[in-house]
Amino acid sequence: MNIALQHLLQGNERFVQRKLSENANVFKQTAQGQQPHVLWVGCSDSRIDPNEITQTGIGDLFVHRNIANLVVEFDLNFLSVLQYAVEVLKVDDIIICGHYGCGGVNAALKGDQLGLIDSWLAHIKSAHQYYAWEIDALPTERERQRRLVELNVLEQINNLGKTRIIREAWARGARPTLNGWVYDLETGQLNVLHDSIADTDQLKLACKFERKKQAS
Ligand code: CO
Repeated sequence: MNIALQHLLQGNERFVQRKLSENANVFKQTAQGQQPHVLWVGCSDSRIDPNEITQTGIGDLFVHRNIANLVVEFDLNFLSVLQYAVEVLKVDDIIICGHYGCGGVNAALKGDQLGLIDSWLAHIKSAHQYYAWEIDALPTERERQRRLVELNVLEQINNLGKTRIIREAWARGARPTLNGWVYDLETGQLNVLHDSIADTDQLKLACKFERKKQAS
């Protein structure tokens, strides 16, 4: 086995020892079942570990990650996670967490040709086209990238709110709320872009607000 992999297993041994020293029954307890209150939808980027950046622990977050934190209406992988989170685990809140400096968003903005991944990134390109008026008017590449990251989060919240799973959940009550956050790699901080959207009207309002800015 190479050294990089050995390093992972050694880390695992330290993890087990540390957890047991804090609570001798921790693994027996967590093996009983999970009751996370939050579904986290984030980017696959190696620098953003949802538990690490929120200082949460085992069992706290139900997590789905893909390149550029996209919600794609025919993505069976994501829809299965969503259905399980909403209908079985009954999470209270869903967070779509984008991040500044996202390679996927930047590639979509530049129109890079990367092969297979292009068809995945096409979903961001459509958000870019939708908000092109605002994004293309920004003076620097950095500002354009950061704005598209934010608007991409909103687009994914909008996609999420249009799924049957969320519409049916909202028809039964006010949960789960949809939240749009962005993580800043340069500071380690999370910023809230959209807070506790809990019905179709609030969702429309959030989208309308951004789109109105396009027209003004
Ligand atoms: Co990313």
